[in-house]
Order: sequence, then structure tokens, then C-alpha cells
Amino acid sequence: MATAPDPFRLDGRSVLITGAGGGIGSALVERFMAAGARVFGADRDAAGMAHLALAGQLTVDLADLPATEAASARFVAASGCPDIVVSNAGFTRGESFESLDVGVWRSEVDINLNGAYALLRPIVDAMAARRAGSIVFVSSVNGLAHFGNPAYSAAKAGLIAYARALAVERGRDGIRANVVAPGSVRTPAWDHRLAADPALLERVLPHYPLGHLVSPADVANAVLFLASPAAAGITGAVLPVDAGLTAGNMRFVDDVLRGKA
Ligand SMILES: NC(=O)c1ccc[n+]([C@@H]2O[C@H](COP(=O)([O-])OP(=O)(O)OC[C@H]3O[C@@H](n4cnc5c(N)ncnc54)[C@H](O)[C@@H]3O)[C@@H](O)[C@H]2O)c1
Repeated sequence: MATAPDPFRLDGRSVLITGAGGGIGSALVERFMAAGARVFGADRDAAGMAHLALAGQLTVDLADLPATEAASARFVAASGCPDIVVSNAGFTRGESFESLDVGVWRSEVDINLNGAYALLRPIVDAMAARRAGSIVFVSSVNGLAHFGNPAYSAAKAGLIAYARALAVERGRDGIRANVVAPGSVRTPAWDHRLAADPALLERVLPHYPLGHLVSPADVANAVLFLASPAAAGITGAVLPVDAGLTAGNMRFVDDVLRGKA
């Protein structure tokens, strides 16, 4: 009797991962390669992807929307339409309203939301033409509730709306779109904060019910699941990978109800 194919395997499939050179991006590349996929990377920094055994790479600044759309169209023409896209690139420095102005707001919404749309526009059309495709967005807990970084958070919430729009309007074209919302992950994205305050992570941990942070591999495993045929029945979903942060307010229970200051 023939055994059914493993729905978590991606042998023969291609995936384009944005932000491939970053902390979570590198874990995504490794995880998708281990699952058998042919992995292409996109990042603004070609050198950052040099250590990865990629099938090909795309150097693109997602804040430059026309250039991103054109580069994506060229990529599809040269390498074919990817079976899967993981829209993972992201950036923020505007920690609270005090550090925002119109320029920073626009730049963070461009990098985190508009650039994802520009990159995906030609790819979604190509996926629809062949009636198959799977897209996973790496959003954030910041897209679900407010934890600082207002412009970034607006963009991350926008990615959730964009994923749902794709799920609803493009479902009949065979396209699935889902979202992973990580909590804090110790990647280079935290370097500037830890340089300013080396003890910062000790103050982050008490917010997390599991008592530890999410790892880049934890995020990559959840993305792989949603991208793969194992999630064939799932579209428009938002999966927090946040060690329990958005399940509720642990400090309220401890401080108010258990009386532990
Ligand atoms: N680290 C966390 O605590 C955390 C939490 C929630 C969500 N996230 C999200 O996870 C994703 C990956 O973050 P990370 O922690 O690996 O960060 P990272 O800084 O290690 O990696 C981000 C990658 O995105 C690329 N990038 C940034 N701006 C770009 C642009 N304009 N054009 C093209 N590429 C660009 C960077 O070059 C880098 O390779 C991001 O979307 C981030 O918002 C991270």
C-alpha cells in the first residue's frame, strides 16, 4: 500500500523569503531547506544573505515601492512563480509617539506593509494564473494589541487585514494567506535596545507566561506549518507565537489578584 505524502514536506516546491538575512529569516531559510524546499531570499542587504545556501536571491529595498514591484516581476520572469512566499522583512526604530514624526511613520509603514504589497502584487497574479499559492506574513503581537512602536504596529495590523483580503478575494484562485504573530524574539532587531540597556531582557521575561522568549526556530516552525499542505484547510488565520503574551495579562493576575508586587 502506498504511503500518503508527508504534508509537512515541501520537496519540489519553491519559496521566496523576505528578510532572509535576518535572525528569523535565517531560521526560516534553514527550516524550509530542511523540509525539502528550494529557497530564494530577498533582502535589502545582499551581504547579509551570503552565508545562506540559497537557490537565488533578490536584493531589494522594500521602502522603494516601484523598484520592489519591478524587481519582483523580474524575479517571477527569471525564476518562475514561487509556490510559497514568506513575507518576513521588517524594521522599526519609532519606539513610542515621542520618537515619531510624519517621515518616520511613512517610512515604517512603507517597509513593513506597503513593501509587502509591492513585492506580492506580481506574484499573487502569477499564483492566481496557475491557481495555487501559499503566503505567510510575519506580523507581530504589535498587530494584535499595543506594545509600543505605533507606526510599525499600524503596519503589522495592516498585514493582518491584507492577509484576510487575500484569503477572501483570492481563495477561489487557489491562494491561501495566513499570518504568524511573534512575541519578542532575541534577534539583531534587539541589538540597538540591548546596547542602550544590557539588562533589558530581564525586564521583558516577566511579561511572558511561559517564562521564556520565543526562538527564531519556534517562529519558523509555525510559518512552515501554515505554508505547507498540512494547513491546506487554513486561510485568513492569525497564529500568535508569543509564549502566551496575548493570551491575557499575567501581571494583572499576579499584582492585583495574587497580591505579588
Ligand atoms: N525580533 C522580534 O522581537 C520580533 C517580534 C515580532 C515580530 N518580528 C518580526 O519578524 C520579522 C523578522 O525580524 P527579525 O527579528 O528577524 O529582525 P532582523 O532585524 O534580524 O531581520 C530583519 C530583516 O529584514 C531586512 N529588512 C529590513 N528593512 C528592509 C527593507 N527596507 N527592505 C528589505 N529588507 C529589509 C533586514 O535587512 C533583515 O535582514 C520582522 O518582520 C519583524 O517585525 C520580530
